[in-house]
Amino acid sequence: MRTLLRLKRVMPEVRWTMWQNRSCSNSSIRSLESNSSIHKHLISKITATGPISVAEYMREALTNPVAGYYVQNDMLGAGGDFITSPEISQIFGELLGVWCVSEWMAAGKSNTFQLVELGPGRGSLASDILRVFSQLKTVLGETDISVHLVEVSPKLSQFQAECLTGDNTQPNDGDQPVYRSGTTHTGLPIYWYRRIEDIPRGFSVFLAHEFFDAIPIHKFQRTEKGWREVMVDIDAESPEKLRFVVSHSPTLASSILIQKDENRQHVEVCPEGGVIVQKLANRIAEDGGAALIVDYGHDGTKTDTFRGFKGHQLHNVLEAPGMADLTADVDFSYLRKMTGNEVTCLGPITQRSFLKNMGIDSRLQVLLRNCHDPSTRAQLIHSYDMLINPEKMGHRFQFFSVLNRGRLAQYRGMQKNTAPLPVAGFAELDMH
Ligand SMILES: C[S@@+](CC[C@H](N)C(=O)[O-])C[C@H]1O[C@@H](n2cnc3c(N)ncnc32)[C@H](O)[C@@H]1O
Repeated sequence: MRTLLRLKRVMPEVRWTMWQNRSCSNSSIRSLESNSSIHKHLISKITATGPISVAEYMREALTNPVAGYYVQNDMLGAGGDFITSPEISQIFGELLGVWCVSEWMAAGKSNTFQLVELGPGRGSLASDILRVFSQLKTVLGETDISVHLVEVSPKLSQFQAECLTGDNTQPNDGDQPVYRSGTTHTGLPIYWYRRIEDIPRGFSVFLAHEFFDAIPIHKFQRTEKGWREVMVDIDAESPEKLRFVVSHSPTLASSILIQKDENRQHVEVCPEGGVIVQKLANRIAEDGGAALIVDYGHDGTKTDTFRGFKGHQLHNVLEAPGMADLTADVDFSYLRKMTGNEVTCLGPITQRSFLKNMGIDSRLQVLLRNCHDPSTRAQLIHSYDMLINPEKMGHRFQFFSVLNRGRLAQYRGMQKNTAPLPVAGFAELDMH
């Protein structure tokens, strides 16, 4: 069972904050030196070559190899900046684990099964999924299962290794595609990569929970002269500060990334996210498998969602780059467009609908039946409410899936529903 969480919503469009965390210990590294190094680096760069795109700013702030936010910090811990669903309750990961197994079954029970997670954070989601795989051993039989994690942060990969293997891993030399490998607590081979293209080909189920919102976006604004890109520049009145400016002339991005029929005044586009989802779609079409993308987002309707978080509060995105989380809502209509015609996309549907379809109510009842400690019972009910209450995470988070086209051949008419095939008796399993 997880430790008690007390959660607070700071404002309607923000990540979730936490005061106590779920499990693994946390030592957050917050280096003012590294912050000033990214800030200084950006100021020198802009002085030398002019304003940079918001995407370049976001990439430097989040994943600069020396001082980026994700590279240096454990942002999900007690001293962190936000809380995610897998950290709130084990039920979340368990239900996603059942979805993975049911997709593998529906796809014809391939002899090999790669579980791939993009941006696994502290490893909690994968850990809960692997527990489900152990419990469903009789269903999975002799299938050759392996685990593949795409993680840019060496710091977080250490947490993941600890959580999933008890640190039974070996770091690999320098620039090898697999930078860490080992064996999970449940005896499965596990590998860490920096890039999706380094994962071996084969039947794969891909999971991306709060991953796409961290991928850099470009921002555009409609002007009298046409679409122009919003850039980051040095503040002329205060040369130590950064500010947003609108480019005088079109940039390459503003020329190619705006749809002809766009009718919003401000638009955010995440081309890197588009390329990633294209890679997943190509693999699913050619090798079989499925992807589940879970995030806060919209269907091509929102305008200005780029925001920052630091110490549980909203934070000015242009202050202290590298010290604060930067994020933007995921445009699911754009992701859908980028998957092409060789796969089927379902959703997005709300977290509430997905978890209800997956049987969260029965699962909660089983856990409550087996639990007699009043505080743990209260915690179970509280985290269930956090996950599915429409006023909390229930409607804010969306589930979007990409499937091999053959997958739905026998299930025509389910286009709006990402519910899985039932895995009989799952809710009755004892999985504490
Ligand atoms: C917001 S956290 C979400 C963590 C976890 N999925 C969860 O929901 O608790 C984003 C994760 O994606 C990773 N990440 C961010 N940008 C990445 C990139 N370009 N490539 C690989 N991993 C990345 C971060 O290091 C982190 O593990």
